[in-house]
Amino acid sequence: MHADIEKILLSETQIAARITELACELNNLYKGEAVCIVGVLKGSTMFMMDLIRKLDMPVKFDFMIASSYGERTISAGCVNIYLDVRMDVTNEHVLLVEDIIDTGNTLSCLKEYFISKQAKSFNIITLLDKPERRVKPIKADYVGFKIPDQFVVGYGLDYAEKYRNLPYIGILKDSVWQDN
Ligand code: IMP
Ligand code: MG
Repeated sequence: MHADIEKILLSETQIAARITELACELNNLYKGEAVCIVGVLKGSTMFMMDLIRKLDMPVKFDFMIASSYGERTISAGCVNIYLDVRMDVTNEHVLLVEDIIDTGNTLSCLKEYFISKQAKSFNIITLLDKPERRVKPIKADYVGFKIPDQFVVGYGLDYAEKYRNLPYIGILKDSVWQDN
């Protein structure tokens, strides 16, 4: 285990097993119809790549960079979109892939954005959900794991751009926060 990690919350094996279950549910949902899968960079990338390998329908994929904080570029209501999808999603099934839903600000704005683009259907899948932290009343259609209100890193999730490459999801030691 990495020296900065207090505890492993979800192991590689647990994550892989849950992804297999989620992929099975999505295969049943879309029943072979093509899907545009949109990953929200950067945290969702590992999850998305592991997930799409297990999907059996035709898949296109693309990425967005969106943030509810920071400098404003293109505005989609309340979220800043730094990188937009290049695919035309009009009349397509869109599946948005997130690493974690925290306050829900990012996702509730992105949902409105895709509805305005007239996608045929719009579903959200998130690896992690921290329901206690929710400010906006948004729910993912598919959730990998509900987790308590603790800051987690690994398997794509970062703290100051670090720890994304850990193969598991872990809770950071308090000392790591305090040093920064
Ligand atoms: P929100 O739901 O709009 O508050 O934003 C969620 C985003 O905040 C996620 O996509 C992550 O990038 C980041 N985030 C929230 N909680 C955590 C965490 O525990 N670890 C790492 N990133 C987090
Ligand atoms: Mg994110």
